[in-house]
Amino acid sequence: MTNLMKTIQYDLSGGIATITFDEPGSPVNTMCDQWRDDLDEVTAQVVRDKDAIRGIVLASAKTTFFAGADLKGTMRLKPSDGPRLFEEIQQIKKNFRTLETLGKPVATCLNGAALGGGWEVALVGHYRIAVDDPKIQLGLPEITLGLIPGASGITKMTRLLGLMGAQPYIMESKLFSPAEALELGLVHELVSDAAQLRPAALAWIESHAGSAVPAHHPWDDKNYKMPGGTPSNPKVAGMLAVAPAVLKQKTRGLYPAPEYALAAMVEGAQVDFDTALRIESRYLAKLVVNPVAKNMINTFFFNMNAIKSGQSRPKDIPRYKPQKVGILGAGMMGGGIAYAQAARGIATVLKDVSAEKAEAGKAYSAKITQPRVEKGRMSPHDQAALLARIVPTESAEALRGCDLVIEAVFENRELKARVTQEAEPMLAPGGFFASNTSTLPISGLARASRQPEKFVGIHFFSPVDKMKLVEIIRGKQTDDETVARAFDYVQSLGKMPIVVNDSRGFFTSRVFGTFVMEGAAMIGEGIPAAVVEQAGIQAGMPVGPLAVLDETALSLSVHVLDQTRADLRAEGGTYIATPGELLVERMVKEFDRNGRAAGGGFYDYPQDKGAKKLLWPELKTLFEKPGIAWDMQDLKDRLLYRQAVETARCLSENVLTTVHDANIGSIFGIGFPAWTGGTLQFIYGMGVDVFCTRASQLADKYGPGFAVTAKVQDAIRRHQPVY
Ligand SMILES: NC(=O)c1ccc[n+]([C@@H]2O[C@H](COP(=O)([O-])OP(=O)(O)OC[C@H]3O[C@@H](n4cnc5c(N)ncnc54)[C@H](O)[C@@H]3O)[C@@H](O)[C@H]2O)c1
Repeated sequence: MTNLMKTIQYDLSGGIATITFDEPGSPVNTMCDQWRDDLDEVTAQVVRDKDAIRGIVLASAKTTFFAGADLKGTMRLKPSDGPRLFEEIQQIKKNFRTLETLGKPVATCLNGAALGGGWEVALVGHYRIAVDDPKIQLGLPEITLGLIPGASGITKMTRLLGLMGAQPYIMESKLFSPAEALELGLVHELVSDAAQLRPAALAWIESHAGSAVPAHHPWDDKNYKMPGGTPSNPKVAGMLAVAPAVLKQKTRGLYPAPEYALAAMVEGAQVDFDTALRIESRYLAKLVVNPVAKNMINTFFFNMNAIKSGQSRPKDIPRYKPQKVGILGAGMMGGGIAYAQAARGIATVLKDVSAEKAEAGKAYSAKITQPRVEKGRMSPHDQAALLARIVPTESAEALRGCDLVIEAVFENRELKARVTQEAEPMLAPGGFFASNTSTLPISGLARASRQPEKFVGIHFFSPVDKMKLVEIIRGKQTDDETVARAFDYVQSLGKMPIVVNDSRGFFTSRVFGTFVMEGAAMIGEGIPAAVVEQAGIQAGMPVGPLAVLDETALSLSVHVLDQTRADLRAEGGTYIATPGELLVERMVKEFDRNGRAAGGGFYDYPQDKGAKKLLWPELKTLFEKPGIAWDMQDLKDRLLYRQAVETARCLSENVLTTVHDANIGSIFGIGFPAWTGGTLQFIYGMGVDVFCTRASQLADKYGPGFAVTAKVQDAIRRHQPVY
């Protein structure tokens, strides 16, 4: 009977039933279909062997304990699968309950990470022993994937820690190390290595095997009380009255997972344990077939792994880590890049036109590490070591021997050409050169290089220390080795590289431009500015398009527009500006509204301390059409669809070559809402046909920005992910 199991090994000897998880052909254990069947099987076997069993040990044959749900399977679910799923989750829990209420002590041996469903498996054990390694992660990351810990995690963690205490671990996916788990009472014993897990488990089983009160979980004790009290406690009730409102403010109603988790916690806290488990199962079954969950799993699990594992990195090129990297321009970006490098141990030469400017760029690293030193989170010694890695200079000679030089000087072609030619001869043999330009095509800049195949775009985002995304731009002549080295360099900074081909605005700036300009176009149509901003917020963008335009400077957009016109003219063409671009141009050239840094743009920025920015009152008189009607759904759709269409165009023009670069780039570079899973998953999530139909409606009403040509449609379909 037992040898029919494929993912679980069962052994009964000396009265100890050992259940070892070992999914064949997989580096980790997951709750796959076979595992569910095997769990039925092993539970039935344990029940049959009950009289011979003194204790049960849960263990893993992998280097980690258990990874959790089978996410590929989840991606294949359809809405009609909901009821079946509910039954399946209930069946897993029934097995868990059988094992934990058998009257036999159950010990969990945590040899490595136990995440999500894995932590829920761990919680079957009454006594949980973990290897004391701070790198081991335990906990419930489901919310970050649009899911909830619905295989008893919500119910058990709430009963272990209380409604307030469990919140960070359920609602915010806060993970914990074995040592932290011990402190929280979530594990009971730490051992120094995996070999000691089993002896510790056996010792505990021995001390409990014959006891008068059989081993059980706290909530199965008749005197059990929920830590901090149940919702009937006035203090808890007071907190719960505001919790949904606070949550809604964060989710804007776009993320069902945290809402369901909170509901399952609170509803479950008012009923018996088994009913609570059932409530949790219902929420999970409802959620798993929800498009938001799939969007988020797709992107935050699969796409993220694709980036981490280097799927966009040219193959067969040895891993590379530059030892010494030079940066030209110690301004906002150069100073930030210097910090990011020095923090990761890379020797950094920071060059500007004067020693003072170079020093000022280095001072940025002192400024952002200082609060950490003051709070005791960084030692003065580490800070000094970091700063010592940055050598400020005004001399190009100091760049000699750099493996990589990145220029971050003013956005000016001639200047960039000049600094390229000055720095290239200083490169170590085999070194390469990069530009941090945000708008100038890389292939054009590479013309100044003596080795255009060793010239690449490495586009950091501002502020560099906070923004994880880096866009690598392959110019027409950039070779594979250089792209691979840029990729490795970005990863060595702990950042996420996406790889795109050269084009005006690359991928991120180009799509970002369509978002802000669609907002500006709405102003031109006479829609009130507050409504435009609200549409952005309601769609899930971090801020409205007008506020963003102010931050990035309207004058910069106009500068880029003028440059684009000049470039196209030089190529013998004419650039036709969009309605949004023309509106922004008027704001700058007619009304001198250049943006926040220049004192005001779409908003006014009162000088008084603490005063909030206000929409520029003149917008109303200048642009608003009295009595105009608008459809909020149209406005929200315009802001998201416009970006999705532009991304699809990038895909069909080969600016983008993969779906994961698009999704991750749009969320982490542009702020495209996480609930969509990114600009392409937005399309795949709703279905390509549904998307194209709506886009064509929008094109009829709001112009060619929404047109999806047959060629673009074909590109979307060709790249559709399969699970
Ligand atoms: N600001 C952003 O949000 C952002 C984001 C991504 C990329 N970029 C790009 O990064 C580059 C730099 O932008 P920034 O915002 O840091 O500009 P910045 O004006 O803050 O800094 C530019 C620095 O370059 C220095 N410089 C000028 N000539 C030089 C020379 N010959 N040698 C060495 N240094 C010289 C200047 O003195 C100045 O300190 C631009 O190409 C910009 O498009 C900016």
